[in-house]
Amino acid sequence: MNRPLRIALTKGRLEKDTVAVFERIGYDCSSVHEKGRKLILPIGGANIEVVLAKANDVITYVEHGVCDAGVVGKDTIMEMQGKYFELVDLGFGKCRFALATKKGADFFGGYDIKTIASKYPNVARNYFESIGMDVEIVKIEGSVELAPLLELADGIVDIVETGTTLKENGLEVVREIAPISARFIVNTVSLKLRQQEIEDLVKLIKANI
Ligand code: PRP
Repeated sequence: MNRPLRIALTKGRLEKDTVAVFERIGYDCSSVHEKGRKLILPIGGANIEVVLAKANDVITYVEHGVCDAGVVGKDTIMEMQGKYFELVDLGFGKCRFALATKKGADFFGGYDIKTIASKYPNVARNYFESIGMDVEIVKIEGSVELAPLLELADGIVDIVETGTTLKENGLEVVREIAPISARFIVNTVSLKLRQQEIEDLVKLIKANI
């Protein structure tokens, strides 16, 4: 038998949602439930092992071919780009990219260059380029909502899921940028070398999401 198909899962919610799909397929994921601090885990009933990693690293591992496939959010894909196939929209991990400002702020008014804070500077840059607006972008690592409150930025480009974080901090969405959900990505060489196996798995995933 071939070495196991190695799939990188984004740790946390996407990992849990993927495991739920695998369990609906009938795979035994007890190694993931009982992982402790272990990071490479065999899946029972399939020639698969999963690797648990941070979102950006899922893409790095798949691009370099040390993992054959991965599950990662469209947000990370849009920010990092890269060379791999995006085969399936898994439909979970749904949220969206939006531009938000302080409630009632006239973001598009005036002629001064606006400052945007984001954990996703490339997504922010591409968006403002697409609407032909010059902005200054500041990279922030987390809790981006703080930036307009501290007057560092006029607006933020960030992920909105329920909208609670914005609401509780007096911010509001002024533009929707893009929908986000989890994607199944595959290394370009792996898809050639293990095409049948990957296609079979994709069929099973699609039937169980
Ligand atoms: C994300 C995002 C928002 C929040 C949106 O942050 O950056 O802050 O979730 O969710 P909501 O619309 O349901 O309130 P995350 O929790 O990943 O933490 P971070 O800000 O530290 O990155």
